[in-house]
Amino acid sequence: MSPERISLLAVLLAAAAATPAAAAPLGLGRPASINEIAGWDIDVRADGRGLPPGRGGVREGRDLYAEKCAACHGAHGEGKPMDALVGGAGTLASATPVRTVGSYWPYATTLFDFIRRAMPFNAPQSLTPNQVYAVSAYVLYLNGILPQDAVLDAKTLPKVRMPNRNGFTAPDPRPDVKPQPAGTPGG
Ligand code: HEC
Repeated sequence: MSPERISLLAVLLAAAAATPAAAAPLGLGRPASINEIAGWDIDVRADGRGLPPGRGGVREGRDLYAEKCAACHGAHGEGKPMDALVGGAGTLASATPVRTVGSYWPYATTLFDFIRRAMPFNAPQSLTPNQVYAVSAYVLYLNGILPQDAVLDAKTLPKVRMPNRNGFTAPDPRPDVKPQPAGTPGG
């Protein structure tokens, strides 16, 4: 782009920014209801904020897993045809790292979030919160992270310590990567 065009663009952008947002309502749409927002507002933070009420344990999770997950992730989470959910301990620093929930994921709360929003792959968001707690507990049990009698809820799940909890560094130590202000892409 020529310098003239760039300065024209700058003038136009400045003019656009100075125009106040239309004050008069357009008569379109309506505010989203609390129920509608709740359907989308399902993220769970690393510290457990956003976890719904409910509970589920390894025992219930075992049956659910066999019914709804094993076909894609293997009877014991070993994978095939899809991702392995179990294994890989101690491989991350090797030439052939095996990244699974057990070996790689730093937070157990992310497991809940991911299963709740995305799994089973062929029927996402079909599980109740109790079922997500249960199947999360079972995947953690398969990884040797929880005992057989463990039950998870919004209080206990954030306390689960994942083996790779300290495997991520922040801030990024690479010399050519600068911290981004919050809200920018990648920040
Ligand atoms: C129809 C096949 C299918 C079924 C059934 C299924 N999954 Fe998955 N799962 C996938 C696929 C495909 C991916 C990879 C998705 C991606 O990377 O976006 C995946 C990824 C995952 C991951 C992330 C793995 C990683 O480390 O990246 C978890 C955890 C998981 N599934 C759990 C479950 C659980 C729990 C169930 C049962 C409630 C389930 N899945 C049922 C196909 C399936």
